[in-house]
Amino acid sequence: MCGIVGYIGFREAYPIVIKGLKRLEYRGYDSAGVMLCDGNELKIAKTKGKVSDLEEKSKAIASSKASIGMGHTRWATHGVPNDINSHPHVSNSGNIVIIHNGIIENYEPLKKELLKRGYTFTSDTDTEVLVNLIEDVKKKEKIKLGKAVQIALNQVVGAYAICVFDKENPDEIIVARLGSPIAIGVGEDEFFIASDASPFIEYTSNAIYLEDEEMAIVRLHKPLKIRKIKDDSLVDPYIQELQMNLEQIEKGGYDHFMLKEIYEQPNVIKDTYRGRLLANQGIIQMAGVEDNLEKFLHADRILIVACGTSWHAGLVAEYVIEEFARIPVEVEYASEFRYRNPIINKNDVVIAISQSGETADTLAAIKLAKEKGAFVFGVCNVVGSSISRETNAGAYTHAGPEIGVASTKAFTTQITVLTMIALRLAKAKGTLSNSDFHRYLQELEVIPEKVAEALTSTNEKAKEIATKFKAATNCLYLGRGYNFPVALEGALKLKEISYIHAEGYPAAEMKHGPIALIDEQMPVIVIAPKQGHYDKVVSNIQEIKSRSGKIIAIVTKGDTQVKGLADHVIEIPETSDALSPLITTIPLQLLSYHIAVMRGCNVDQPRNLAKSVTVE
Ligand code: F6R
Repeated sequence: MCGIVGYIGFREAYPIVIKGLKRLEYRGYDSAGVMLCDGNELKIAKTKGKVSDLEEKSKAIASSKASIGMGHTRWATHGVPNDINSHPHVSNSGNIVIIHNGIIENYEPLKKELLKRGYTFTSDTDTEVLVNLIEDVKKKEKIKLGKAVQIALNQVVGAYAICVFDKENPDEIIVARLGSPIAIGVGEDEFFIASDASPFIEYTSNAIYLEDEEMAIVRLHKPLKIRKIKDDSLVDPYIQELQMNLEQIEKGGYDHFMLKEIYEQPNVIKDTYRGRLLANQGIIQMAGVEDNLEKFLHADRILIVACGTSWHAGLVAEYVIEEFARIPVEVEYASEFRYRNPIINKNDVVIAISQSGETADTLAAIKLAKEKGAFVFGVCNVVGSSISRETNAGAYTHAGPEIGVASTKAFTTQITVLTMIALRLAKAKGTLSNSDFHRYLQELEVIPEKVAEALTSTNEKAKEIATKFKAATNCLYLGRGYNFPVALEGALKLKEISYIHAEGYPAAEMKHGPIALIDEQMPVIVIAPKQGHYDKVVSNIQEIKSRSGKIIAIVTKGDTQVKGLADHVIEIPETSDALSPLITTIPLQLLSYHIAVMRGCNVDQPRNLAKSVTVE
């Protein structure tokens, strides 16, 4: 949550900071702010609202030639989103400026102490406490900014990624991290700082990702210094070459990132299995699994921890792994797992799934599982993210940057990776017949073509249905077996971007409660592909029909039975039951997208949400 950008070098900082903030806006968009240091003069503009509002508000400083600057886009934690609570925050002396992503949990006692010492506060934020604490330490100890930041951070409980600037020493920015990501782009005679590398990829492909409890002193014309916050020891900077390119983080002609990402799915699913799935040779291989095969094979059970859409992918994995590899699987919300004193054994394998690789609850669940001796395997999209580093081994999904806040391609690529894991384990355990194993490999290989076909064949129908149901206030999503998690995911997608209340249920559960909601106003989206529990789902459809519910059914191409019952049908290409979530998801993503667009919602940045949830 919250996006941070900083620049120090020879270029004009303002355009770099503003453009960078736009790229990071997916991380939070409650308010935004910018600071420039022009000569010895600090120029600050901040406002409630988006980066576009900040541009309006900062017109007076936009032409500044300042070549040092910092900016922030906020997802509010402490204090409502308003101008005053926006970052940057400035210390009482007016010299020290901070931008912060994270939460200072012990800010209240620190604030009390500072109040006693005469400090005053204008905002309700924990961040304003931190900047004054830094100032207080600096004054008391008569030390440089870097040292003061270090001492202050050692008094802090919480999570942070921060950039701190001191007008008295205007050629440096201090950067520090604990629990919230931060990258430093290293150019020639210039440095870029950002929550992820997207703000600086057109300037440099060299980046350093700070580890937890590290701080960097970023100084003009000086080599970068990284120190451990706790013991002050020096760390050798590890410069990584970025794999991202500019095209990947732009809309490429689509109206929204979400739509672009939906349409990228055929290609990114291919990227996910490239080099790992060799269908003709009957091989499925992933380095992280191969290296730890014994651990998986001897696991008493597999525990999957994740949040949101990633949790839904975990539920699909439960079905696939149990079916193919016959290993017991449990799936948990990371947020519950971490706080319920779970029973974890040394023979458990924990799979943590996360697109961003930064989700605080998932990270905490991983740490807990590791403490208890479990082997933890990560399925992440963002290379070098905290979760990918914290886990014992893992497999990247290779979906490329997902910028739309609603997750789409991350979900299908997570399912692809998890299905490959299931198949690899099944092969090693001999729990699938040879012919089934080979059939699944062949089928997985052609999934990208089927996804492409589903995109082409279902988009117009999804749009037409969206026109009819855009004013709905409630929606029910039903599916069975592999498609029960898809029903949950369909409902999540609709509610988060269109603000229509939606629930996902296993179709058979409907009669245990939700059926009471069904009347002629209630759209019920039923996932009813030919494979799987088709007849059972048809019976559920009958039950909805006899209560006058409006049925929108996702069916296999050529289906006639459901067509005769449903008000609307969307036809998808046929595939086996276990792989069907990769296809049935597509029209549900499109349906949510079109409904949200028709309702005038901000599809890429839905209200109150942020792309990576680095607070618990
Ligand atoms: C929904 C969505 C969220 C995320 C969740 C976990 O569209 O994006 O529910 O899936 O916040 O995020 P990651 O996968 O980054 O851990």
